[in-house]
Amino acid sequence: MGDTMNKRKIILDVDTGTDDAIALMAAILSDAFEIVGVTTVAGNLPLPQTTANTLRVVSLLAPHIPVIRGCAQPLVRDLDPRRKFCDNEETVVDETGHRIAFHVEEFASLPPATLQPSGQNAVCWLVETIKNSPEKITLILVGPQTNFATALRADESIVTNIEQIVIMGGGFDERNSSSSAEFNFFMDPEAAQIVLNCGADITLIPLDATHHAVLSMEDVQEMRSWNTVVGNFVADITEERIKAYNTFQPLFKPDSASMHDALCVLYLLNPAVITKSELFRVDVVTGGGVCDGQSIIDARPTAKKRKNCLVCLRTDDELFSRMLLDLLRRANF
Ligand code: RIB
Ligand code: CA
Repeated sequence: MGDTMNKRKIILDVDTGTDDAIALMAAILSDAFEIVGVTTVAGNLPLPQTTANTLRVVSLLAPHIPVIRGCAQPLVRDLDPRRKFCDNEETVVDETGHRIAFHVEEFASLPPATLQPSGQNAVCWLVETIKNSPEKITLILVGPQTNFATALRADESIVTNIEQIVIMGGGFDERNSSSSAEFNFFMDPEAAQIVLNCGADITLIPLDATHHAVLSMEDVQEMRSWNTVVGNFVADITEERIKAYNTFQPLFKPDSASMHDALCVLYLLNPAVITKSELFRVDVVTGGGVCDGQSIIDARPTAKKRKNCLVCLRTDDELFSRMLLDLLRRANF
């Protein structure tokens, strides 16, 4: 990895899952960032699995980067049994009996991790690392925002040493986890509301943008042709995701799958990948009910509250897939 002198310092907070893994690979392979650390949180899978999956990816591509285990539960949502989890968790199998899902339990096709997670919890690590950094840090939050919300509760002054926060979360015309909410916000609505109101420079990348950040079956064939560890791994998980999208939520392009989290990384590499964005006031519904975790834009001209985030609404899908494949192709082993 080249010298880190003038690279943007970033921390990725992930619930590795398949699209988080691709975002991690893109960030590492871009060689454009000084990746200070990767913090893990429960979300797509329980914390042990999201941490194990993250360790496999980081061990493979950048074993010098610390992986720090975070929160295993959301802030408060699980205290109320009425606030049930996703309503699209039914198990669906294909004609061969193979379970169709967006995420695989473990990344068995990657070599076993050679790294262990650091001994500290991610919340304490985030406070110390952000507070003591000589340069401002950019956060890329692509899971439920429990870790960073808790860090803010522990010491809200850390926000003064944050360059920018890029969040994959929310959905305005698009949802996935309930009739009203996107998964990362749905899994910890209170955390999302705390982070959106922390006062930092926030770019929000919701499903409205990420549902056009897709890889297709043509991309799967291209990646398989490389015959590399990364190419075969991403081809496999993309094919699984395409099956899941075709089954649960067909997208604008037939036989394609969203790579939600990778769009946050590519946006920092080339903001032109986002073709429409606007500064809005966004809040998150908390406390349960049918709209639990819903992201709400206050677009009234008379809105009094501060416009707290730049909301990305449209994606250049061709630029996205071209950039992502160019990055993944760099892992030529
Ligand atoms: O709604 C999509 C988001 O939820 C992505 O970050 C995915 O990895 C899951 O965390
Ligand atoms: Ca994620």
